Amino acid sequence: MPVRNIVIAGNWKMHKTQVESLEFLQEFLNHINETPEDREVVLCIPFTALSAFSKNLHGSRVKLGAQNIHWEPSGAYTGEISAMMLNELGVRYVIVGHSERRQYFGETDETVNLRLRAAQDHELTPILCVGETKQQRDAGETEDIIKHQLKHDLIGVDQQNLVVAYEPIWAIGTGDTCDPQEANRVIGIIRQQLSNSNISIQYGGSVKPNNIDVIMAQPEIDGALVGGASLDPSNFGRIVNYK
Ligand code: 13P
Repeated sequence: MPVRNIVIAGNWKMHKTQVESLEFLQEFLNHINETPEDREVVLCIPFTALSAFSKNLHGSRVKLGAQNIHWEPSGAYTGEISAMMLNELGVRYVIVGHSERRQYFGETDETVNLRLRAAQDHELTPILCVGETKQQRDAGETEDIIKHQLKHDLIGVDQQNLVVAYEPIWAIGTGDTCDPQEANRVIGIIRQQLSNSNISIQYGGSVKPNNIDVIMAQPEIDGALVGGASLDPSNFGRIVNYK
């Protein structure tokens, strides 16, 4: 049975200038000298910091990620970023369909699908985010919502080059982490919907140094997508060095 990759990724969202990102990197590199080889370390940072960050990785194992990608190679799309622009900077991963983009920027399953395919066409690994709201969870709709998102988002998507992140929206930025066993259960359901059961599936939502070990101990959970706690080098260092 092939072993699933472990991917621990930080999502900085709209945080850190270029100078701040380099300060982070300088300290963070000290925390990953002894990080076990079994895990991939990814930082999805703002577009404006990618270039400087990439030049200062100094052969480290940190993989660069972006937070969005447009599906067209170029054109009149003010404010958007193409796959080739990311390729040129050494970007390897890109977050697609984060709930904040779905909620605030009109992202739909259709545009998520276009972005996923554009990323894969240019050898970027997309991290597809799915998850339910509090209201949907309380109404017992979690499974249906996730199945609907996966079905529509993954049309024509290559499941050999994909990471999925289960991010219950009510757990994002709230400190209200999903119970690890419940996250494990939902991730198991996600895995059943996929044609490739070896895809890495992350959990995201208030992942912190004090809960990462129990999250990663769950058999279905192959990594984490970390917001707030990835902004601090020592916190994110502890998370990537989970036991
Ligand atoms: P927090 O870790 O801040 O809850 O954010 C999670 C997230 O949205 C990662 O993409």
